[in-house]
Amino acid sequence: MSRTASAAILAQISKAARDDPEKMGADWVPVLQGVPLFANLSQRHLRHVARLARAARFSAGAPVVRAGAPGDSFFVVIDGNARVEWSGGSSRLGPLDFFGEMSLIDGGPRSATVVAETEMLTMKLSRSAFAKVLESEPDIALVIMKELVRRVRQAEGSPTA
Ligand code: CMP
Repeated sequence: MSRTASAAILAQISKAARDDPEKMGADWVPVLQGVPLFANLSQRHLRHVARLARAARFSAGAPVVRAGAPGDSFFVVIDGNARVEWSGGSSRLGPLDFFGEMSLIDGGPRSATVVAETEMLTMKLSRSAFAKVLESEPDIALVIMKELVRRVRQAEGSPTA
């Protein structure tokens, strides 16, 4: 699977975004369809997620979340890259990766700082929207759990799957 949203889809989104830059409508469904996190969702459920979400854009160098701050949103990278930095190391996120789940899951502070490395387009879910999506789509919780385990293994330098 391609790890970038296609240029045509991004152009379509930019057109729709002229009226309301934060609004995500039906034209986001093809984008969400390509996100591994939403791989098992029907068109109807994808439209539901798109309705709950907002688009959030960041310029290169902008901090998106700061370690230690309270967390109120979950993000899926649609276009661009970000750097994640925590006390023990750092890693890079690109299109179709997600971040910000940890604080929303346990209510604790942000575990790491995430900075946009390039101009970045994200899909953003508020805490309550994230909870609604997890409640209605248990498969998503499983994908998030698997990714959390992968990140723990990576951060600890443990053998990986
Ligand atoms: P959260 O703690 O809410 O905010 C910072 C985010 O950085 C965190 O959620 C994860 O999404 C992400 N993050 C934290 N640690 C790692 C890691 N080791 N590898 C990749 N991403 C991470």
